[in-house]
Amino acid sequence: MTARHHVVLQHKSVTAFGPATLSNLGPGFDTIGLCIQGWGDRITASPHAGRGIRIQFVAGTCWKGPTDVDSNTAGVAARAVLDLLDYPDGVCLEIEKGIVPASGSGSSAASAVAAAWAVNELFGNPLSTEELVPPVLKGESVASGSVHGDNVIPALLGGVVLVSAENPEKYSVLPVAEGLLLSVILPSMEIATREAREILPESVALTDAVRNASNLAFLVDSLQRGDWRSFGRQVMSDLLVEPVRSNLLPAYNSIKEAALSSGAFGCALSGSGPTMFAVSDSANQATITLAAMVSACEDCGIDASGIVSPVGRTGARTCATS
Ligand code: HSE
Repeated sequence: MTARHHVVLQHKSVTAFGPATLSNLGPGFDTIGLCIQGWGDRITASPHAGRGIRIQFVAGTCWKGPTDVDSNTAGVAARAVLDLLDYPDGVCLEIEKGIVPASGSGSSAASAVAAAWAVNELFGNPLSTEELVPPVLKGESVASGSVHGDNVIPALLGGVVLVSAENPEKYSVLPVAEGLLLSVILPSMEIATREAREILPESVALTDAVRNASNLAFLVDSLQRGDWRSFGRQVMSDLLVEPVRSNLLPAYNSIKEAALSSGAFGCALSGSGPTMFAVSDSANQATITLAAMVSACEDCGIDASGIVSPVGRTGARTCATS
């Protein structure tokens, strides 16, 4: 879109929420992601008298990030929104991180989305949600060193979203049946997305690429039909990325075996890890599976926490305005 002149502030402050997301889902590297419930970042945007973006973290927040605007996904996304609006004055962002950075559950994406949403709402939402896609992609690229939308677009829109690896601004929100429950474990260690991308092979065998494409197609089919047993099998069918990245998480095999032994239909890394998720179709099973995964991780000497979540149908949202 072209810049919109003469936007007027509608609020003194807006607090927005950007949810956590799971990405790749096995064979869908950079191509599919879904929004979960419970975890997320909150960002309060308010005008300030000077120019540009200022960043601060809520006092006592568990995790902090850079306050340099160019290095912060929220700062870059917010500035991209202000540029689209042609707004010359400054905005302050106060960030409350609810998602551990470098965790594989979309921490950087959640901040980018919450910031873009809050800044747009400050002016009464002159940009549509679709028009926020380019700013949030720009924000996310700061963290990963590449432009891919499989965390940031589901965090913005909610649900399960296919994104194009060729054109990151192209996406499709998938129709997904009800009933999917995800046991999401967060091992207490960091894996930087940028580094986890650098270890991936530059080329792969044609037979593996063909099988991955086929596996992703059946994964999408199982989501639409609500066949969670099949979905569980498909999340374990990646031949290209997860076999390499799983070596970054020492507890990977133990967590996966514990999830499957407990009755889950499947288990895989989210994004570049260390977050992993398991697939179930009941809250009881998902709770049992999460406990088994956490216990297996801790038996490997790595603390862990977790959450049971359905697909989050709502993405970014406004929490408060004044
Ligand atoms: N698809 C991305 C990856 C998600 O796996 O590197 C992390 O940003």
